[in-house]
Amino acid sequence: MAPAPPKQLLPLLLFILVSFTCIWLFSLTASNRSARIQTQQLQIATQTPGPNFTFIVKLLTFNRLSSLSRCLNSLSKANYDAGDAVHLHVYIDHFPLDSRNDSAELDGKLSVSRQIVDFVDGFDWKFGEKLVHYRTTNAGLQAQWLEAWWPSSDHEFAFVVEDDLEVSPLYYRFLKAVILNYYYNASNFSPSIYGASLQRPRFVPGKHGNKMQLDGENQIFLYELVGTWGQL
Ligand SMILES: *[C@@H]1O[C@H](CO)[C@@H](O)[C@H](O)[C@H]1NC(C)=O
Ligand SMILES: *[C@@H]1O[C@H](CO)[C@@H](O)[C@H](O)[C@H]1NC(C)=O
Ligand SMILES: *[C@@H]1O[C@H](CO)[C@@H](O)[C@H](O)[C@H]1NC(C)=O
Repeated sequence: MAPAPPKQLLPLLLFILVSFTCIWLFSLTASNRSARIQTQQLQIATQTPGPNFTFIVKLLTFNRLSSLSRCLNSLSKANYDAGDAVHLHVYIDHFPLDSRNDSAELDGKLSVSRQIVDFVDGFDWKFGEKLVHYRTTNAGLQAQWLEAWWPSSDHEFAFVVEDDLEVSPLYYRFLKAVILNYYYNASNFSPSIYGASLQRPRFVPGKHGNKMQLDGENQIFLYELVGTWGQL
């Protein structure tokens, strides 16, 4: 009989077990559904988005200055096309008010908020307008997401990103190419494409069931995935 694992390892083992169960369950449902996979030739977009094309980065942040600064710096170092307006909207959540906290704790939280607000206010955004939304009560991540965007036209695109991410310098080029190829190009337009995620395809439908059959020439394929890591 194997020796009993030490007590402090039990939560970890339990976590790993639960994670595997979730992944396995997901694979099971995913392979039962017939994964609708479309293949497309990789191509250079020659389409232009038109004069009303607007791209807005919606950055959700709270109280993590170091990750916020890493995220903002990566956004501002990315490659944008000359002539494109890329606006930055930053949503800063407020800490929850807790009457049980003493004034020293409150001071600490206020000072963190002050650093975040100062940093965002002072941050230079050269690619479009910068709009900072400070909340006066705690909204939470779910409300931050849900209230981040009210579309104002069919040519307005929002890219929602949480402050713990660091984007690739090519993220904008990629998203714009997706928009041009799948939204503006009438021959590829599909109403079932609602957005695009920059998330690594961690759960691969069909991984443990029907394998995806891709020929050697096609390098891009589409499939459904809920993503919260960089969402267009
Ligand atoms: C639109 O998509 C079609 C099919 O993929 C492609 O042949 C065509 O070149 C695209 N048009 C433009 C303007 O990019
Ligand atoms: C751009 O927006 C303006 C104002 O809403 C509208 O009059 C015009 O038709 C739009 N142009 C295109 C190409 O959609
Ligand atoms: C504030 O109060 C909450 C609830 O009692 C507690 O969890 C937290 O640790 C307290 N202190 C700080 C600095 O948040």
